[in-house]
Amino acid sequence: MLLEVENLSVWYDKAMLINHLSMGVDTGELVSLVGPNGAGKSTLLRAITGLVSWEREITRRSAHGDIILEGKVTFDRERIDQIPAHEIAKRGLIHCPERRRPFREMTVLDNLMAGAYLLKDRNEIRNNLSKVYQLFPILKDRSNQISGTLSGGEQQMLAIGRALMSKPKLLCIDEPSTGLAPLLRAEVFQKIRGVHQLGITVLLVEQEVGIVFQMATRNYVLSSGRIIAQGPGDQLLQDEVLRKTYLGL
Ligand SMILES: Nc1ncnc2c1ncn2[C@@H]1O[C@H](COP(=O)(O)OP(=O)(O)O)[C@@H](O)[C@H]1O
Ligand SMILES: [Mg+2]
Repeated sequence: MLLEVENLSVWYDKAMLINHLSMGVDTGELVSLVGPNGAGKSTLLRAITGLVSWEREITRRSAHGDIILEGKVTFDRERIDQIPAHEIAKRGLIHCPERRRPFREMTVLDNLMAGAYLLKDRNEIRNNLSKVYQLFPILKDRSNQISGTLSGGEQQMLAIGRALMSKPKLLCIDEPSTGLAPLLRAEVFQKIRGVHQLGITVLLVEQEVGIVFQMATRNYVLSSGRIIAQGPGDQLLQDEVLRKTYLGL
């Protein structure tokens, strides 16, 4: 497994947001994580990519409520649950957070270059940029435009493009279609397929179960901080209770 989460639990004060959860993603997969609002999907991604630990350090220093993270996260055969978020990013585990907006006052190109800040090799950066432009021609057309003037859909494309600039081994994308009009949603999903076809392993959090189950090699259904079901989409869709109670279908 490229990513392996073992027996992970996260508490914010007395609220247990992730409850002894185990899951994994293998190299080359597109794995989805679905489930109702408040299930803990974003918390899980934040725990994997080091943001929960970062938040814990801050709250400790300001003597706010306690955040506890327990369990084991392994990435590329290395344990990462004890190391800082930027070190995790360096290892190729990149997070594209929920409602992430690019730096609004910077141009599209500057935003993309900011995504490559971990790389030193200019050829590699140029190579990545041409791949991003191939996947998102609109970003090439708009490369000198100020990012804040892009449409919502274009900003989401830019957020994904920026994450791609570091050539991640695993890209975690949190609800990229939320807040977009249906046509744009379809386009975002098509782009995520494109990202996967570039050979990048993807962990995708989404509400749009219908589309996501068609794209993903495997799916996890999360509810109240636990994995309550997993498997290929067609198999999960056969379960009436799952459909009605957890997938909103
Ligand atoms: N920083 C936080 N402090 C306390 N509770 C939080 C925090 N972030 C999220 N929660 C709570 O944790 C639960 C899971 O949230 P979240 O991971 O955002 O779910 P999802 O992404 O599946 O909608 C929710 O009940 C939410 O209110
Ligand atoms: Mg969320």
